[in-house]
Amino acid sequence: MRKKIIAGNWKMNMTASQAKELIGLLKDGCNTDLADVVFCPPYVDLALAIELTKDSNIAIGAQNMHFEESGAFTGEISPSMLSEIGTKYVILGHSERREYFNETDISINKKVKKAFEHGLIPIICCGETLIQREQGIEIDFIRQQIKIALLDIPAEQVKDLIIAYEPIWAIGTGKVATSAQAQAVCRAIRQVVGELYPSKIADAVRIQYGGSVNAKNANELFSQPDIDGALVGGAALKADFIEIIKAAN
Ligand code: PGA
Repeated sequence: MRKKIIAGNWKMNMTASQAKELIGLLKDGCNTDLADVVFCPPYVDLALAIELTKDSNIAIGAQNMHFEESGAFTGEISPSMLSEIGTKYVILGHSERREYFNETDISINKKVKKAFEHGLIPIICCGETLIQREQGIEIDFIRQQIKIALLDIPAEQVKDLIIAYEPIWAIGTGKVATSAQAQAVCRAIRQVVGELYPSKIADAVRIQYGGSVNAKNANELFSQPDIDGALVGGAALKADFIEIIKAAN
């Protein structure tokens, strides 16, 4: 039985004072051991979020990182900067990073390797555009994203990582994938992991759905056999997030 994992991707929202307020609102309701709960605030809020949640089961994740250790990369954040302050997870390859910051499957694969070197658990995002879905090529496209992201990643690491299936047309649009659509792709992702690794690894890997998840649709999504939680954007910034966590229990 895979433990559900619900992560809140705060994106470019929440100044430090707002982050403090939001954590105050969410902390008690999200403090459970029935599901893994992760808050992913902007970089500048990470240390504060780690401090404010240290007496709870809530873990903190970053939204991105560079694959280099250090050096002349103005504006970037290294894996050791994240791990040293107690960051546990890192979202890699979110579609907004791919679209606006030119991230590629290859750079994401480099980041996955580096994350593990520093004890960070990657949440690897994948997902198709609306055009790809209309053309019926979403599964082929996502299989390729997963294969490249996992290139040369050993089985013992793959079993611990998280894959988030986020159809781009469902992100921030209020247009959630049906549970059947989400289940079909999450199943296909598990299948591709099973082609690359022993079946016990494919059985262990946790696959989230993301894209307009809210307190109303979470229950139905979480009832699907291959959906092990959610990566939540907009609804992670309000009390609704607590209801989403409850749906996972
Ligand atoms: P959304 O974002 O829940 O606001 O659609 C999800 C995401 O981008 O991770």
